[in-house]
Amino acid sequence: MGFAKDILCIGAGYVGGPTMAMIAARCPHYKVTVVDINHARIAAWQSDQLPIYEPGLDEVVRQARGRNLFFSTQVEQGIRDADIIFVSVNTPTKTFGQGAGRAADLQYWEKTARQILEHADRNKIVVEKSTLPVRTAEAMERILNANTKNIRFEVLSNPEFLAEGSAITDLEAPDRVLIGSKETPEGITARRAIVDIYANWVPRENIIESNVWSSELSKLAANAFLAQRISSINAISALCEKTEADVDEVAYAIGKDSRIGPKFLKASVGFGGSCFKKDILNLVYICHSYGLGEVAAYWESVVKINEWQESRFVRTILESMFNTVAGKRIALLGFAFKANTGDTRESPAIYIARGLAEERAEVVVTDPQALANARDDLTDMGDRVHFESDPYTAAEGAHALAILTEWDVYRQLDYARIFASMEQPAFLFDGRNILDHQRLFELGFNVFPIGKAALKHF
Ligand code: UDX
Ligand code: ADP
Repeated sequence: MGFAKDILCIGAGYVGGPTMAMIAARCPHYKVTVVDINHARIAAWQSDQLPIYEPGLDEVVRQARGRNLFFSTQVEQGIRDADIIFVSVNTPTKTFGQGAGRAADLQYWEKTARQILEHADRNKIVVEKSTLPVRTAEAMERILNANTKNIRFEVLSNPEFLAEGSAITDLEAPDRVLIGSKETPEGITARRAIVDIYANWVPRENIIESNVWSSELSKLAANAFLAQRISSINAISALCEKTEADVDEVAYAIGKDSRIGPKFLKASVGFGGSCFKKDILNLVYICHSYGLGEVAAYWESVVKINEWQESRFVRTILESMFNTVAGKRIALLGFAFKANTGDTRESPAIYIARGLAEERAEVVVTDPQALANARDDLTDMGDRVHFESDPYTAAEGAHALAILTEWDVYRQLDYARIFASMEQPAFLFDGRNILDHQRLFELGFNVFPIGKAALKHF
């Protein structure tokens, strides 16, 4: 077929799928194959119902699929054919043994490395796309290069910085692309090959080259810094509620300082997603393993504040509803960890739904994209939790609403109609501060925002 390069990606998840779709769309001269052991996932990537919801993704996939973008379960064949192999398999937090609850579980990564080793018959570039602990590339390179076939592998780090919900725009115009390799002649040649891929659409000055450890650590550090901003503003939100300061006003005022900047200062019910907690705990584990206890404790507090913020939200609901929610219907508006995604991994909504159900509330969950995942997350809750696709039906007969995801549709609901269908007194807990609280108060709601004085009729 005469493609200039044969690129393989192992792992067709939230990172691998969209990233490879973008590379294929922007580089019609490369063949891009995405493989996964999960047959259902691959079948979905081949269909009109993609396995993940991401604005703009359908168009990008449609543009390239069948032309130079292919989805397959033939991992071994893919490895044989590829010049460059991106590895984008999952690296969850370990749940067992040493480092349980903190360290990354590298079993999928290592399995993949061994598979590459077994099926490769010529030199290859292997690129870490999954977020991995610092110095994983070195370990992988050792596994791969311990072969008797006389094959050389260069292992590079090319962390993905896309955020879910804006993956396509992030991939189209990334703030930066980071590519780390060994500083040897072979490492630098391999690095250039990856630079060449991105240079098809990313301005050269936005492609950063570094050593492989800086690249690996930068990914963890970037996520830790972002999460730290959210925990900082959430910590301030608690103080605002005590002092009648308004957290949005504070965030605006401090964000105007160009050294601080306005982004990632939105107080919320807590951060979720597959990356922040996992990456920070990973960082904490690494710090401990190098004897840096103070540094570990510093970063761990970011996760602790987040967990505290989630529990604080449940406590606020309980206390303001006269210390009991038993038998009361509470509608959770939003279950995804952020808007514009169906992903619920580490979503604060999971914790809040469980917390309320434990208090014997009748919990009703609604979300425009995440209901299927929500059902999976809460299967063990039985009939203590209900699922409703229509927010109006979810709110009917409820004592309280809690906004847990900042979906646009929730800004536009007819709250007068909702109020009329609810039990009185009606409560509204805005865990994302997206609604017009004064107007809702005037409609009759008792309104509890994050980091602002509550508006109560009693
Ligand atoms: C994050 C990083 O942004 C991205 O660069 C990295 O590649 C993966 O991890 P993601 O988790 O997809 O991306 O979403 P992000 O937009 O960072 O939001 C994470 C969580 O923080 C969400 O639950 C979001 O609601 C919350 N958040 C974000 C806040 O509570 N307040 C904010 O100001 C920003
Ligand atoms: P991320 O958010 O990092 O993309 P996901 O869990 O969405 O993580 O995707 C990781 C994908 O990697 C999953 O679809 C999983 O089936 C796949 N995977 C895990 N191990 C292997 C393997 N050895 N070979 C191929 N695919 C794998």
